[in-house]
Formats: sequence, structure tokens, C-alpha cells
Amino acid sequence: MQTTAKTNRKSVSIRPLKTDHIECELVWEMIVRNISNALLVQSIIKGMKQPIAIAVAFVTFALFYQTTGLFVLSGAVACVTLLGGGLLNGYYGINRIFAGSPASKRKLYTYFNMRVERQFWVAECDDKIIGCAGIQEASPTNGLDESPGTVAELRWMVVEAEYRRFGAASALLGNAIEFCKTRGYKELTLVTSEVQNNAICFYLKYGFEEIGQYTLDNLFPLFRLKMHKFRLYLQQST
Ligand SMILES: CC(C)(COP(=O)(O)OP(=O)(O)OC[C@H]1O[C@@H](n2cnc3c(N)ncnc32)[C@H](O)[C@@H]1OP(=O)(O)O)[C@@H](O)C(=O)NCCC(=O)NCCS
Repeated sequence: MQTTAKTNRKSVSIRPLKTDHIECELVWEMIVRNISNALLVQSIIKGMKQPIAIAVAFVTFALFYQTTGLFVLSGAVACVTLLGGGLLNGYYGINRIFAGSPASKRKLYTYFNMRVERQFWVAECDDKIIGCAGIQEASPTNGLDESPGTVAELRWMVVEAEYRRFGAASALLGNAIEFCKTRGYKELTLVTSEVQNNAICFYLKYGFEEIGQYTLDNLFPLFRLKMHKFRLYLQQST
């Protein structure tokens, strides 16, 4: 199914992902880049606040100062150490989020578009792909007490930075909701993190309610993110 939505400034069309390997790789690269960008600065800041990173920076400062006697330069070296630690923490933590995904690169089409209960779409504008989103059946371990096949999960909702606030994500979500209703899903759920503020604003605007939180702490040792679970009852959606 292909739909076109006229947004406030751009015309965005939504279509299913193609089988093409190059398209799958491009879309996966867009997902990783946009989610990483959304997480990186905040995760670096969180990493810099970790006691272990602070201790390493302090020891670096002390050793450098003792060796050179240069107070200001030692402080600068300690700051760079702390920043580098924060960056590594964010980098490896974010990488682990993607490493565990069953739907990466070339597998994106196979994972989503070869099963009737799943679907993946891309948004196009100015003759290029500028966004995407996928639907899959929610995992039975997500804590929701529902019968199988009634709860869907929204995955990988992303819009390129220069195309945001034109309604592209709204068009993708509209398509996803239509698909869910057709498939007989009663609820749409998703998980986003504490630092993805634009995503949280977006989901709240469309009537999603927060139904729980958990901490993602099985990633890189110092990387902890508070995750927010949201749900939309599809019968109530407009
Ligand atoms: C979240 C995201 C997909 C929204 O895409 P978008 O195309 O800009 O969203 P829309 O233009 O359809 O926005 C619809 C409404 O959502 C709300 N909204 C979207 N972004 C917002 C922001 N940064 N701040 C406040 N509200 C926002 C607004 O109410 C907006 O309506 P308005 O523009 O008329 O005020 C996009 O910001 C993004 O890709 N973020 C980075 C990746 C990410 O975190 N994805 C979520 C994964 S869970």
C-alpha cells in the first residue's frame, strides 16, 4: 500500500520497504545514525558523571601534575580523559543496542516484510528516503497481560533531522496504525529512552500513555538509560 500525505511544507509519500539490499542498507544506516545522534550527547554526559570515569580522570590529573608540575595542562588532560571515557561509554553502549537486533542491514526486509504480522515502511520526500518505521507483534515477555496477536510494537521510527516537523513521522504512524487495525491488533506499544525528548513529545501528541519504565543497564558497563514504555489503544485512536 502506498499513501501520500500533504504536510505543512512538504509532500511525503509512504511505501513498504523494497527487497533491494542497497535500500535495506541505506535505511539501516539512517536508523543507526539518527538513533545514535539522539542518544550520543546525553549518553556522553551520563558517562562523564560516572564515578569510575571521574576517578580515572582524577588519577590522570594527579599523575600528570606530579610528573610535569603543570596544573592547568594537567586539568585539561583530565578533562579530555573524562570526555574520552564518556564518548567510549556512549559509543559502545549504543553499538550494543544495534548489535542485538535481528533486523539489521540486509535482514531488514526479510525480518519485517516477509511475515504477515510485521511490516516496514519508508517515507520519501524530494525523491529520497527521509524516514521509516516498522511494526511487529510485541514480545510476550513485555509484561503486558494480553492475548497473543493483539499487541503490536512500533520499531525504528526515524526521520532525518532536516525533514523533521513536516509531518513525516505522523504520516508513518498513521500508516502503521492502519496496518495494525487491519491485522487485528488492539494495542500499539513502543519503548523509547529518557533522552529522546522529541520522540516522547511526538508519542504524547498522538495519545500514547506511559505504562512503565525500566533501566537498560545490560549494555556497556557504565551505560545506563531509563527506558519509557508507551501504549496506544487502537480503538480510541482517530
Ligand atoms: C521523533 C521523530 C520521529 C518525529 O519526527 P517528525 O517528522 O519531526 O514528527 P512530526 O513532524 O510528524 O511531528 C508531529 C508532532 O509531534 C510533536 N513533536 C515532534 N517533534 C517534536 C519536538 N522536537 N518537540 C516537541 N514536539 C514535537 C509535535 O506536536 C508535532 O506537531 P507540530 O509540528 O505540528 O507541532 C523525529 O524527531 C526523530 O527521528 N527523532 C530521532 C530518532 C528517534 O528518537 N526516534 C524515536 C525512536 S523511539
